[in-house]
Amino acid sequence: MKTIGLIGAGHIGSQLARLAAAHGYDVVISNSRGPETLSALVAELGPKARAASATDAAKAGDIAVVTVPLKSYRQVPVAPLAGKVVIDTNNYYPQRDGHIPELDDESTTTSELLQAHLPTSKVVKAFNHIYAAELTTHGQPAGSKNRRALVIAGDDPSAKATVAKLLDEFGFDSVDAGPLKEGWRIQRDTPGYGPRRNAEELRNDLQAAKRYRDQ
Ligand SMILES: NC(=O)c1ccc[n+]([C@@H]2O[C@H](COP(=O)([O-])OP(=O)(O)OC[C@H]3O[C@@H](n4cnc5c(N)ncnc54)[C@H](OP(=O)(O)O)[C@@H]3O)[C@@H](O)[C@H]2O)c1
Repeated sequence: MKTIGLIGAGHIGSQLARLAAAHGYDVVISNSRGPETLSALVAELGPKARAASATDAAKAGDIAVVTVPLKSYRQVPVAPLAGKVVIDTNNYYPQRDGHIPELDDESTTTSELLQAHLPTSKVVKAFNHIYAAELTTHGQPAGSKNRRALVIAGDDPSAKATVAKLLDEFGFDSVDAGPLKEGWRIQRDTPGYGPRRNAEELRNDLQAAKRYRDQ
């Protein structure tokens, strides 16, 4: 697994691109305005990075990351992501994304929506509850005392293992919340969303999480 394709190169996408390039991956970044608008970031990332259309970034990635505002998830290219591990960083903010009834009534979760859009991809929820800036400052080597942990959730065990390995390379422990439908446990306004947590603290936060209707 050599190339990470990023759909979205904003706060989170650019930071994940920095981490990936720093750890030896080839990186293909994309946004909505076109590759020419990403030349400064490509220059910063160095020779292992290039910019492309979202479709070409999706095609190039052995693993892909979707990190766009949730309202744009239906624009994510489907065919080039078929069969691939797709990391989903997205969160739901109605004031930004507009109201999505099935999220408002909690009959589904953000990553299940992306999984439904990408039916043959292996979606893994990750990197959704850490501030972008902390991605490049909070990582520590494996085994560090009180190492920060991040949640993963997904329906495909081998895809989750792939993402847990990537998290470990990037400097973080992982805590498995279970299948995508359990991803609500780390959504906006839950205890684990935002603060620095080690694995044990994060497991406790997942247990303590309440649905919006019960908050
Ligand atoms: N910011 C954080 O600290 C943070 C932390 C965890 C999770 N998240 C979540 O992660 C997601 C991304 O957040 P962000 O803060 O990185 O957002 P952002 O800074 O607004 O960046 C969004 C990126 O997505 C691109 N984009 C939008 N529509 C696209 C499309 N149809 N095809 C390809 N690229 C598209 C944008 O490109 P253009 O600029 O060209 O439109 C931009 O590069 C959100 O769901 C957010 O809630 C954010």
